Amino acid sequence: MCGIVGYIGEEQAAPVLLGGLKKLEYRGYDSAGVAVHNSSGLHVVKAKGRLAVLDGILEGGATLPGTVGIGHTRWATHGAPSDVNSHPQVSDGGLFAVVHNGIIENYLYLKNHLKRRGVAFVSDTDTEVVAQMLEYYYKGDVLQAIRQVTDRVEGSYALGIICAHCPEKVFAVRKDSPLIVGLGQGENFIASDVTAILGHTRRICRLKDREIAVLERGGARFFDAELDPVEKQEELVEWDVAAAEKGGYEHFMMKEICEQPEALGKTISPRIREGRVVLDGIRLSKEEIEGLSRIYIVACGTSYHVGAVAKYAMEKLLRLPIEVDVASEFRYREPILDSRTLVIIISQSGETADTLAALREAKRQGARTLSIVNVVGSTIASESDDVLYTWAGPEIAVASTKAYSTQLAMIYLIALYMVQELGTMPQQELAGLLAQLENLPRLAERCLAEKKEIQYFASRYFNAGDIYFIGRNVDYAASLEASLKLKEISYIHSEAYTGGELKHGPISLIEEGTLVVAICTCRRLFEKMMANIREVKARGAVVLGITTPQLAEALAQEADCLFAVPDTAEFMLPSMSILPLQLFAYYVASMKGCDIDKPRNLAKSVTVE
Ligand code: G6P
Repeated sequence: MCGIVGYIGEEQAAPVLLGGLKKLEYRGYDSAGVAVHNSSGLHVVKAKGRLAVLDGILEGGATLPGTVGIGHTRWATHGAPSDVNSHPQVSDGGLFAVVHNGIIENYLYLKNHLKRRGVAFVSDTDTEVVAQMLEYYYKGDVLQAIRQVTDRVEGSYALGIICAHCPEKVFAVRKDSPLIVGLGQGENFIASDVTAILGHTRRICRLKDREIAVLERGGARFFDAELDPVEKQEELVEWDVAAAEKGGYEHFMMKEICEQPEALGKTISPRIREGRVVLDGIRLSKEEIEGLSRIYIVACGTSYHVGAVAKYAMEKLLRLPIEVDVASEFRYREPILDSRTLVIIISQSGETADTLAALREAKRQGARTLSIVNVVGSTIASESDDVLYTWAGPEIAVASTKAYSTQLAMIYLIALYMVQELGTMPQQELAGLLAQLENLPRLAERCLAEKKEIQYFASRYFNAGDIYFIGRNVDYAASLEASLKLKEISYIHSEAYTGGELKHGPISLIEEGTLVVAICTCRRLFEKMMANIREVKARGAVVLGITTPQLAEALAQEADCLFAVPDTAEFMLPSMSILPLQLFAYYVASMKGCDIDKPRNLAKSVTVE
């Protein structure tokens, strides 16, 4: 949510900043801006709209001289997208320019306080308060001013700061919103996300809450909240530049859909060794697993939909109550947890604000926490008792695809690991399931090879007004994700219902020509789904069926069109059925001319509540 980049070095800063912002645009894209020091002072250029607007104004950065600066791409929270609300925000006297991710919760109080002291505000943003406070408290020492401000602001922030009095420095500080420092040769960077600076350096330091970084050309220094110097460990990022590029695909989303077989392989294969699940990230003993009274799974968005599959899969395999919660609800509903509860947190970014807060609530109540995360070293990963990385590589498209698939695979691994440790399944049966799990990447590859049929079907229905997804058991869980994918990027109204729930209301929405996508891969519930399909067809619906080869012939009797996905163990079937439906969403959005990688109003990583 919003992107920050900062640079100090020998090169012209503006093109470097714009280059970094291009990599971050998927995080927020309603306005953008840069602030650069040069011989005539501190210069700010910002514009409403996509980054291309700013890029055009600055002619790729060429028209703005100076080698020190900060930049921002915004997803509006306080104040509508406009030139004046764009970042950088500048203090009244022009001394400080600030870019900010997060939300200053007490900004109104602070704003009124400053206004009473004669400070004039121009924007509706919470960020302007930070810029104004910095100038208000500045008495010749920027670090002291930062400390005064961070002592007073409440909420979350990652801040990039430049000061007219220090043209050879970039400052950064953060709390509950990610920020890294990139270390180069004679040049240094700040960024909210490593992808912004991967083209320049892979050496990074992660700022902890309230730590401050001071960047100069020759190096970076770090301080804690009391301004005492801190030694930081340098990390080497393993993602390469190509992983964050489109690599010949028109959109990141299609690239990431196609990367799923490989990503699944990276998640699964190192964790099955000699017929056993080996989870290096888990320190739960057999006794601790036996002692668990229940498992909560907490996440947002697509990651939450992984939880929906997990409930069916894990309850079936473990015979243990599994509760799945949307993180924003979990944190405020006073969940009942104790040391016999395991809370599994799922997050691609590892930075989602509600999910992080849910993790902290779980820890506060003494629950055991385990996170499934993609971004190495992210806040959720570092605060959980145990962490399992999905190793899916960077996911850039806002609509999540390979993160979903790899998170699902991780759930299967955890469930089978627990079954293995508990010894509750005959060895042969467990070995069979592990073999099927290991085979998922190959099945995904086969499934994704059949794009043409889905493309054709999308061409017939891309003008639909409403699309409904139905399924039962894990097929219902997959329907939730399929429906989300479609609405996120194509803006077609879409809902997911369980087949059994249709008659309790949703069927009144079905009329002549309504498209219903029926996921029917569960053999034991197939007849029930056939009955549901007949019900919607009797009301005029057109049905696209998703099933397995074994059930295809029977389904063809009722469905208008069908797509068969490779068969596997029942609880793993969502890993197959979602693939054609990701493609369906993609093609529909593409045929409608939507901006697939940057759907309206959405952001990749929601680091505010
Ligand atoms: C945003 C993204 C979704 C994502 C959700 C949770 O809403 O647009 O694609 O599923 O956040 O993100 P996380 O990083 O916690 O998995």
